[in-house]
Parts: sequence; C-alpha cells; structure tokens
Amino acid sequence: MFTKAIVRTPGCSLTSGLTASKLGTPVYQKALEQHRQYIAALERCSLDVLILEADEAFPDSTFVEDVAIVTPKCAIITRPAAASRRGETAAMLPVLEDFYSYIEKIQPPGTLDGGDVMQVDQHFYIGLSSRTNRAGADQLIEILQRYGMTGSTVPVTEGLHLKTGVTQVAENTLLAAGEFIASPNFSDFRILPVPEEANGGANCIRINGKLLLSAGFPEVSRQLVDQGAELIEVDISEYAKLDGGLTCLSLRF
Ligand code: GLY
Repeated sequence: MFTKAIVRTPGCSLTSGLTASKLGTPVYQKALEQHRQYIAALERCSLDVLILEADEAFPDSTFVEDVAIVTPKCAIITRPAAASRRGETAAMLPVLEDFYSYIEKIQPPGTLDGGDVMQVDQHFYIGLSSRTNRAGADQLIEILQRYGMTGSTVPVTEGLHLKTGVTQVAENTLLAAGEFIASPNFSDFRILPVPEEANGGANCIRINGKLLLSAGFPEVSRQLVDQGAELIEVDISEYAKLDGGLTCLSLRF
C-alpha cells in the first residue's frame, strides 16, 4: 500500500527538455493542465501528493522519478547521466529527509536514472541504458542488499529507460514492449505484450489496486480491462514529447 507521492510542477523551461522523440515541442499550458490531471489521478489512488515548486533551472526536473529510488526501507539519491539533469538531485535530498531516516547516494563514476529501476516486491530490476551504467547499477544492488532487498540488471537498447518498455500491472504480470516481450530476465512473469504501434502504452503505474495508463492506447487499455484491472487513463502527450512516461512524473511510497 502506497500512501504518498512527490511531484514537481513543470517550469516554462520544460520546452527545452531533453528528447530523442520526433513528437515536437511540448505546449506549456497544456503540460500544466495535464500535470494537474495527473495529480488528480494519483489522489484517486488514495495518495497524499506533495507538489514541489517548478525549478526553471532544470527543464526536465518535473521527471522526479529519475532523481531518487524510494523503497520501504531507505531512499537512494541517484546520479543522472545527463549533464543538464545532474543538479536536480540537490533539491530532492532535503525533501526526502522529511520522510526517510536512511538516505543513500549513488557515487561517481556511477550513473543511474530512477526510470531504469523497476521494483517487483523486494527485488529491483535495473536497466543498463544510455543513462544507467554498470557502476551505478552495482552500487544500487549493494545498497539494496544492505537493506535486505535484491537487484539485478537488464540490458536496455530500445527506448530511454527500462520502464519505458516494461512495467508491472498485476501480481506476477508485466506489460512489456519490444525487446522486453521475450526477455529471459522476465521469463518467470506472465507477459502482456504491447503491439509495436502502441509502444508508448507500456509505461503504467500500479497503485493501491488501480492502474494508471497513458491515454491514447485503446489496444493496451482493452487488454488490461480484460485482466480485470481498474484503469485510470491520463493524457500525458506533452511529456511523451520529452520521452517521459507516467512513472517518470512522480515518486510513490
Ligand atoms: N526528457 C527526459 C530525459 O531525457 O531525461
């Protein structure tokens, strides 16, 4: 059961955020409205949402999930690989100090983005991607083990982060796109495959018995409804333009 979420309002500088997508520049006012709807969806999942102020110095800082890993036992401040995002962690540390007695940090030469970390029960799958390197992943595994949890790595060659292409949607069930559909790393799970044309729909958030899904993926939505999921669809088109998904926009604990 999660009780809290942390989000950060996007600043006007959002329009200069990092992206590899060809979807165009986010429309700021629309992004703000979508952020409000996203917060409302988290509140419908019974979360108390802490809304941090916009930080214009960091265009991607609304993607708070990348700067910390929050576990039941400790929080870990990450070390984003992208130079324009490295400084985002400083503002998250004092916020997490209000909630956590134990806070660890990824150290150089490690790099790690929270978007590359998928928790399933006490185990954390860590994507080795263009943002998360082996040193960062090894440090995270060592920290998790110290707190009685475990971690393992998964290669990521498609999409920005691990959770761009795979998320947990039910007990022992993953929604997976592309390279993750047949990945040996997930062979113990039941896989719901996302069709290629709906890859953007693989990033869901499972919270307190409900499932947040990006709007605009009817084939994914149908599949999840067939599984008996209680769905809340949220339009995050302006964040998708920056390669952002639903998970990227909050920390949940
Ligand atoms: N635009 C999000 C990121 O590249 O980190």
